[in-house]
Amino acid sequence: MQIALLGGTGDLGAGLALRWGRDTDHDLLVGSRDPDQAREAASDYAARLDGTASISGVQNGDAAAQADIVVLAVSPYHLGDLLSTIGDRLSETAIVVTPAVGMERGEDGMSYAPPPQGSVAALVRERTPDPNPVVGAFHTLPAGRLADLDTTLDFDTLVFGDRADAVAQVREVAESIDGLGTLTAGGLGNAAAVESLTPLLLTLGAENDAHGLGLKIQ
Ligand SMILES: NC(=O)c1ccc[n+]([C@@H]2O[C@H](COP(=O)([O-])OP(=O)(O)OC[C@H]3O[C@@H](n4cnc5c(N)ncnc54)[C@H](OP(=O)(O)O)[C@@H]3O)[C@@H](O)[C@H]2O)c1
Repeated sequence: MQIALLGGTGDLGAGLALRWGRDTDHDLLVGSRDPDQAREAASDYAARLDGTASISGVQNGDAAAQADIVVLAVSPYHLGDLLSTIGDRLSETAIVVTPAVGMERGEDGMSYAPPPQGSVAALVRERTPDPNPVVGAFHTLPAGRLADLDTTLDFDTLVFGDRADAVAQVREVAESIDGLGTLTAGGLGNAAAVESLTPLLLTLGAENDAHGLGLKIQ
């Protein structure tokens, strides 16, 4: 499986690349706006995995064009621009995955701030070519704990989307990371509910001096 991590030079991209690189034999394409930064990040991740993983770095559009699964690991405020540059590069069968959450900091901590479409996933759906399914996943994973390979994970991620087969495929790829479980969370109509868990977790962490919180459904 070819997985592209667009914005894979950032925190979530690093965490997912390191986990997939260590735990699976998927081919990982680290994307960036700048191909040099992409190559630098990819070789840094590969070195941290002692050269055992298939990780290469390319510009976002080139990563998107080659991938079966395209993870949009950028801020929601940059998604519109990113999707307009990669939309016509996606293969017709590529699954577009959004982990992105709109948030703002207020007096009471972090709160959910979705775009006018109602959720980030709805924005992604609006800007993604019709044939490509859109799936939401990874919103509640703390990137720092993913990137710390000494941390044993015990988290779940909620996966929703507009096509059941795409949700199933993303669940399988997510579960290939050791210690990560998944649950199907329905369709894109549930996106706002899932996305809004992230600012809640961040507020719980800040208020209770418990940083790096994730979700486990039991
Ligand atoms: N951090 C977490 O713990 C976490 C957990 C779950 C979900 N998420 C979600 O995952 C997404 C990425 O989070 P992150 O913390 O990894 O973000 P980040 O580190 O701040 O940024 C990720 C990447 O976005 C790219 N970027 C910056 N400005 C851009 C622009 N104008 N256009 C296109 N790309 C741009 C940069 O890559 P280049 O400069 O190389 O292009 C950067 O490395 C967010 O939507 C966030 O809500 C984050």
